[in-house]
Amino acid sequence: MNVRMSTLVAAVAAALLAPAMAAEPVGVAARGGYPEYLFLEKAPRDEAKATAEKLARAVIAGRMIIFAYAKKLTDPAIGDKGFTGEFFLEQWRNSLQGELLDATPSQKRILEKLFWAGKQVIDNNQDRLNVKGIAWKHFLPAKWEREMGQVFTARTGIIIKQPGRAYRSPVNVPDELERSAMQKYIDAGRDEMRPQTAFTTMGKQAVYRHMEPIRLLDPCLPCHGKPKGEPDMLGFEKDGLETGDLIGLMSVTVAVE
Ligand code: HEC
Repeated sequence: MNVRMSTLVAAVAAALLAPAMAAEPVGVAARGGYPEYLFLEKAPRDEAKATAEKLARAVIAGRMIIFAYAKKLTDPAIGDKGFTGEFFLEQWRNSLQGELLDATPSQKRILEKLFWAGKQVIDNNQDRLNVKGIAWKHFLPAKWEREMGQVFTARTGIIIKQPGRAYRSPVNVPDELERSAMQKYIDAGRDEMRPQTAFTTMGKQAVYRHMEPIRLLDPCLPCHGKPKGEPDMLGFEKDGLETGDLIGLMSVTVAVE
């Protein structure tokens, strides 16, 4: 074979191989996973709905407490804010007395693990919270929820996350069901608050999914409002949304027995 021939053969071989290699995409989600035994806490099937709703309400209550302290937490004149895990937990627990009253033993155990995770994340952020001289230290209800969700999921297998319409943290990337739920809320308009739910599976594990809308309030607009694309105080581009618009979902996935 002369040089020209061998170049031709190599070119043909490369052309034949190229589509096979291109068919294997890089940087995509692996398939499979979710072995049933990693869903450590499983709700009885008839309790799953109430368990997911309780968790969603508890997380929203935690968000609201952090939100209520936003002024103090972003005051550059204060160093030690006194917003410790213990301080937070006491208020969080108090705000949820009603939820605890009618909780089943399984729900009580799960809520205790949620409290544990939420407190731990506040403790973990003390150095950040207590920085003096800077207003916005990237400590927000959404960040607490993201970190708390990861700690809680690691311990229980129950997934709590807040997929975003245009997410800032890659942890908040919506899955297929969450993406379609968000679209439905956007199509339905601002008054639609009813949760979207489903009994489905994750791997072979039967799960109950609860998704409800997170809508914007006036104080959210400096970051998620208008004008779209202009940087907010943390440097993210604003979403260009208005009060009442959907910004994301409170999404809870509970394994069922
Ligand atoms: C100071 C700017 C700021 C304000 C004010 C703010 N957010 Fe955010 N929001 C962020 C940042 C930054 C993140 C990413 C947090 C993270 O996970 O680290 C975020 C994340 C979120 C997410 C999760 C999806 C995502 O983008 O990753 C939701 C939902 C959300 N915010 C809703 C709200 C709501 C509702 C309010 C008002 C009650 C609000 N935010 C107020 C900056 C802000």
